[in-house]
Amino acid sequence: MDWDTLWLNCQAATMVPGSPYGAIRDAAIAARNGRIAWVGRRHDLPERRAAEIVDLAGCWVTPGLIDCHTHLIFAGHRAREFTLRLEGARYETIARAGGGILSTVEATRTASAAVLLRTAEARARERLAEGVTVLEIKSGYGLDVETELRMLRLARDLGERLPMTVRTTCLAAHALPLEYSRAADDYIDLILDTILPRAIDSDLVDAVDVFCEGIAFTLVQTERILRAARAYGLAVKLHAGQLSDLGGAGLAARYGALSVDHLEHVSEADVRAMAGAGCVAVLLPGAFYSLRESQPPPVALFRKYRVPMAIASDLNPGTSPVRSLRLTLNMACALFRLTPEEALAGVTRAAAQALGLQQDYGTLECGKFADLVSWDIDDPAELAYWIGGAAVMGRVRHGKLLGDPRSAASGEAPH
Ligand code: NIG
Ligand code: FE
Repeated sequence: MDWDTLWLNCQAATMVPGSPYGAIRDAAIAARNGRIAWVGRRHDLPERRAAEIVDLAGCWVTPGLIDCHTHLIFAGHRAREFTLRLEGARYETIARAGGGILSTVEATRTASAAVLLRTAEARARERLAEGVTVLEIKSGYGLDVETELRMLRLARDLGERLPMTVRTTCLAAHALPLEYSRAADDYIDLILDTILPRAIDSDLVDAVDVFCEGIAFTLVQTERILRAARAYGLAVKLHAGQLSDLGGAGLAARYGALSVDHLEHVSEADVRAMAGAGCVAVLLPGAFYSLRESQPPPVALFRKYRVPMAIASDLNPGTSPVRSLRLTLNMACALFRLTPEEALAGVTRAAAQALGLQQDYGTLECGKFADLVSWDIDDPAELAYWIGGAAVMGRVRHGKLLGDPRSAASGEAPH
């Protein structure tokens, strides 16, 4: 047999650059050994034998979606802080008073493994249901050796339990833990001498991230971590420019970061540096929305310098309790004025690049994994247009049709 599966009679939004959505009308897609073996117009389909032929009845097919920035593992919630912010308190003020990230750190350190697994798996299954096949998960609510490693291990476990690709990012430099409140450099030593080496030894970490911000780590502290991460051979990413511009984006570019994330506050020179270094701008409209920010990221500059724009949920209990990646497509258009096509590229092609996975994911092209989503839509712009609602019809990962992501009886790994 030449192919394992051949999908016929669909409209493929391949997301290959060059034409709107890289669309192929009346397309055919073939998979072999989990990868795309042929994609093009059905008319041009070569004579081949397939073990299974699936008629998609004319529906649209996109690459599997990618959520390239999440803090999906945490305990508790911060609804109280949400209420305080609505009453006028500022995010930074709450954080400096020991709330914010540190309150989630306390909840996460004391949560049982069973609770952390159950809540994280439920959130990951919500992503599966909306067509996500690749998910990045950061640590950063442990801020001690044991809990940081526990979070990274749990992220790896989720990738084993669920039919999705999980990439792990060590964000031990998310905030200064209370026990180091007057000793930031000692905490950075702990990250560099203990947390990172142990995470690397146990193969728990794909990338390293730092929160470079007035309420978190300075440019000098950030650089120590990026330099060490690169010396360990790890990819780096950076939270920068969320609340203020410390110059983190330019620093990240100098260290060849895969992405710089947030970027509401960034200079033109740093955008140019990102372009030169091939960094992706990861835009996080959920955090912008939840904090009711007013300065959007400089989308015109990203377009001018051809910096790819990814979009992610930033799912976290503080600034972005966003449980739908699809919703962020709409937010990116409504709040940041991305086009619906840019928004879809932001959760496919550009998101793959933000994780360094562009060889295997992000577009429908020969050789990449056959991760496909079929949609109940007439126009791919509908993926950004609808606010809420479910449009997924079918999901395929590595060439295999997936069942109901919420049910343990679906064949999608047990609870
Ligand atoms: O991406 N910016 C830093 N980290 C998160 C917020 C985390 C929190 O408040 O718990 C973010 O927005
Ligand atoms: Fe974040």
